[in-house]
Amino acid sequence: CGIVGYTGSKEAGPILVAGLRRLEYRGYDSAGVAAVEDGSIEVRKQAGRVQILEELLRQQPVRASNGISHTRWATHGPANDVNAHPHVGGRGGKRSVAVVHNGVVENHATLRRELEAEGFVFRSQTDTEVVAHLTARELERGDDPLDALLRVLPRLEGTYGLAMVTAERPGELLGARLGSPLVVGVGDDEHFLASDPVAIAAHTASVAYLQDGEVVRLTPKDFEIRHRERGPITPRIDRIDWKPDAVEMGGHAHYMLKEIREQPDTVLNACRGRLVREEGSSRLGGLNMTARQLRRVRRVVFAACGTSWHAALVGEYLIERLAHLPVEVEYASEFRYRNAPLDDRTLVFVLSQSGETADTLGALREAKRRGQPTLAIVNTVGSTIAREADGGVYLHAGLEVGVASTKAFSAQVAVLTLLALHLGRLRGLSFSEGTAVLKALEAVPSLIGEALKAEPAIEAAAERVAQARSVLYLGRDIHFPVALEGALKLKEISYIHAEGYPTAEMKHGPIALIDVHTPSVFVAPRGPLHAKTLSNIEEVRARRGPVVSVGLADDDELTRLSDHVLPIPDAPDVVQPLLAVVPLQLLAYHVARIKGCDIDKPRNLAKSVTVE
Ligand code: G6P
Repeated sequence: CGIVGYTGSKEAGPILVAGLRRLEYRGYDSAGVAAVEDGSIEVRKQAGRVQILEELLRQQPVRASNGISHTRWATHGPANDVNAHPHVGGRGGKRSVAVVHNGVVENHATLRRELEAEGFVFRSQTDTEVVAHLTARELERGDDPLDALLRVLPRLEGTYGLAMVTAERPGELLGARLGSPLVVGVGDDEHFLASDPVAIAAHTASVAYLQDGEVVRLTPKDFEIRHRERGPITPRIDRIDWKPDAVEMGGHAHYMLKEIREQPDTVLNACRGRLVREEGSSRLGGLNMTARQLRRVRRVVFAACGTSWHAALVGEYLIERLAHLPVEVEYASEFRYRNAPLDDRTLVFVLSQSGETADTLGALREAKRRGQPTLAIVNTVGSTIAREADGGVYLHAGLEVGVASTKAFSAQVAVLTLLALHLGRLRGLSFSEGTAVLKALEAVPSLIGEALKAEPAIEAAAERVAQARSVLYLGRDIHFPVALEGALKLKEISYIHAEGYPTAEMKHGPIALIDVHTPSVFVAPRGPLHAKTLSNIEEVRARRGPVVSVGLADDDELTRLSDHVLPIPDAPDVVQPLLAVVPLQLLAYHVARIKGCDIDKPRNLAKSVTVE
C-alpha cells in the first residue's frame, strides 16, 4: 500500500492525490484522503483506483493545507469503501484522529474486543481501525498527540508504516515506522511524509528515512524524529538525485506492451559498460568484492518472489553451467523462516524489481542478521533493498509500470548471465568460452527485435488460448523457468489458470489434464534435448491436446507437430531464455486483450507487495 502526508501552506488535496498516483504500483484496491478542515477531520475515500478518488474530490473538495492519503492493497477485509483508508478514531461520534497504515497488526482481534467493550464502534473490517481508536483513547486523556502515539505503538504486534492527523492539532502530521518504510520530505515551510520517496520527489530532493522503531512529528516549519525507546534522534538528511521518470505510453496500447517492446534496449542497458572483451569476462563493480573474495565462494543462494524468483532460477542454470557452483533458489518468504545453513563461503543474493517487496527485504535482513554479506540485484535506485544490501547490481531497466513484470525479468536474466560469466572466469571457464558468452549477449538486443516481429503469429495463437480454462507451459533445462514465467504472465493478466512444468515431468501428473480444451505451450528451441521435447509433444498430441510451441521458424518437425509456432531466432543456448520469454509475454498480453482484461492493473495484484 502507499502513504502520502503533507503539511505546509499549499492546498493539500492535489499534492496528496498526485503522490498517490505515483504509488499506485503498491496497490489500487481503494484510495482515500483525510484532512483537517477548521478543526474537524474530513475524509474522502472510495473503492477503486486513485482516479476515482480524484473525481470524488472534484465533487467534494477538501480545503486544508495538511492531510494524509493512502492507496490500498487489501489485507484485512474486502476492497470496499468502508475498508478504504484513512480510518477515523473516536468515541460517541467524535472524530479525533485519522490514520493510514501499511503493514499488518497481527493482534488486531484482541485489541478490537478490548476497544468495543469500552464503547468504540468499529466501522470497517480492517486491522488499521484499532490503531485509530487506540490513539483516540489516549487523546481523550488530553495527551499531546505524539505522546499518545508513543503509548499506542507498544500495543501493536506486527508491522507498520503509519501516518496520522488529529483534529486538535491541524498543522501537525505524525508518522511511525516498524517494518514498513516511511520517509520524510523536507521542503521550504512544508514537509512531506511518504512510504516511498517517489511520491514526493516532484517537491523536494531532501529526505530523511525513518528507521524501525522511530516516530516523527511534522509541522510546516519543522520536524522531529524520536525513537520509541531511546528518545530524540538527529535526522540524517539524504539527497535523492533522481527525478521521477516521466513515463508516457508513447503510442502503445498499454504500458505492458511498451515494456515488452523495449526489451532490446533493456538488455543493452543492463550490459552497458559491463562487458570486458579483453578478458572474455564482465565487470560488476557494485558487488564490492575482490576477485579473491569471489574465488572463495563455494555456493550461491538466491532469494526472490514472483517473476524475480523465475529470473533467479534461470540464474541457477547459468551459474551451474558457466561457473560450476552449486546454487539454491529460494522463495524469499520461505528463506527468511528457514534455518538454511549458511557459511562465509556462501554468497546470498536477493533479486527484486521494486526493491521494496516485504518478503524479499525480510530475507535480506535475515541473511544480514546471520552475519552474511548480502548482495542485491535491483531495478529501483535508492529503494530499501538497494540501500540495505552490502552491494549489488542495478538493472537499469527504467521505470516498469505494468504490474506484470516483463522488461525487469530480461534485465535480471542479462545481469545474471554477466554474474555467471564473471564467476565462471574466476574459475574454470576459458577465455574462448567466456568470449562466446559475451558475443552471444551482444547479439541479443537485435535478436529480441526479431522475436518481436512475430506478433501476428502470436495473436493467432492467442485467439485459441483465450478460449481455454487451463493451460500447461512446458520447458526443460534452462527453459523450465521460462515456462514458469510464461504461465505466471498468463494467469496474472488473463485470469486463465496456467501451470509451468519441466517438459518431461508432465507425464508424471499434469498429463491427466490434457484434452482438446487444454492447450500446452512448449518452449522448444533447438538444443541437446530437442528430440526428447518432440517426443513429449507427440504425447500431448496423442491425447488431442492443442500445441503451441516457441521454437525456430525453420524447424519443420516442430511446425508439423504444433498448431501454432511462435518463432524465435536461433542463438547459443545460454541466451535463449532472453528470446524465448518474449513470445510468451506477448501471448499473455494478447490473450488478456482478447478477453478485455485490465492489462496494466490486473485484479488483486500490486506491483510491489510491502506486506508479508
Ligand atoms: C509482486 C508482483 C510480481 C513481482 C513480485 C516481486 O507480487 O505482482 O509481478 O514479480 O511482486 O516483485 P519485486 O519487485 O520484488 O521483483
